[in-house]
Amino acid sequence: MALSITLPTSGKVRNHWQSLYSILRELYGYDFNDYADASMTRRIVRYMELNKIRTSSELCDKLINKRMIIQDFVNDVTVNVTEMFRDPEFYISLQKNVIQSLNNLPYIRIWHPGCSSGEEVYSMAILLYENGMLENSMLYGTDINTEVLSKARKGIYPLRNMKEYTSNYIKTDAKYSFAEYYTASYDAAILRAFLKRRTVFSKHDLVTGVVPDEFNLIVCRNVLIYFNRDLQERVFKLFCDSLYLGGFLALGPRETLLLSDVNRRFELVDKKENIYKKIK
Ligand SMILES: C[S@@+](CC[C@H](N)C(=O)[O-])C[C@H]1O[C@@H](n2cnc3c(N)ncnc32)[C@H](O)[C@@H]1O
Repeated sequence: MALSITLPTSGKVRNHWQSLYSILRELYGYDFNDYADASMTRRIVRYMELNKIRTSSELCDKLINKRMIIQDFVNDVTVNVTEMFRDPEFYISLQKNVIQSLNNLPYIRIWHPGCSSGEEVYSMAILLYENGMLENSMLYGTDINTEVLSKARKGIYPLRNMKEYTSNYIKTDAKYSFAEYYTASYDAAILRAFLKRRTVFSKHDLVTGVVPDEFNLIVCRNVLIYFNRDLQERVFKLFCDSLYLGGFLALGPRETLLLSDVNRRFELVDKKENIYKKIK
């Protein structure tokens, strides 16, 4: 379907969605103002095409008058793609550079902001378990999307995904069998209960700037790429405030702290995987 909206060229794109962003913020508490313009526009237009909505004002009317569509809208504009042991080299680096330092602590608190449906959190639980550290750890997964969070709490994933997750796991130089961590039931893989016991999943919006607590490790991968520079900077400050001194920030291969003001408070631990240690 051809949409009747004519999108302005970059720079003015944000103005185009101004009314939409106001409705989302004022009626529903979602603030997308400082998300990267290009990817937001792509996602919104895709939602409009799928739902045969022709103009941005028609979309605004729908969001005002049909409140139940908000969850669908949020599902479509937030990118929730994730995997277990995504980017296996990242886990090799965590094992080498982070896990051993955390092993000296009596209690370990780990935060995964933007955890989506939880696969990254459970991968971390497996890593901790294999190092004998799961029982004295607590893993907090947060996201703005409540639908993915309920999937995360269940820890049940499509069985067809296990082939890829097993292959990722093997690439982390794993010593065990990935099949030990789930039971298959029809077309579902149910993660073993001991992996879930040390996890808590709750709604948290990085835009609000609220520090949820203090942590020894924050893992935030494939989330900041959707934010503009201003918001990225605010979130880096939030991460810095949420880490204990000596704590680690792990951003993965796609995001860097190097251009941030808070960079001076961190020491680089792994350049490729963007892992940092808070030193002041
Ligand atoms: C691509 S997923 C990343 C999942 C996982 N970290 C990974 O790398 O596999 C991005 C997640 O960020 C979440 N997200 C987007 N904006 C957010 C915000 N303001 N606060 C918290 N989470 C957010 C989305 O809902 C989505 O689940």
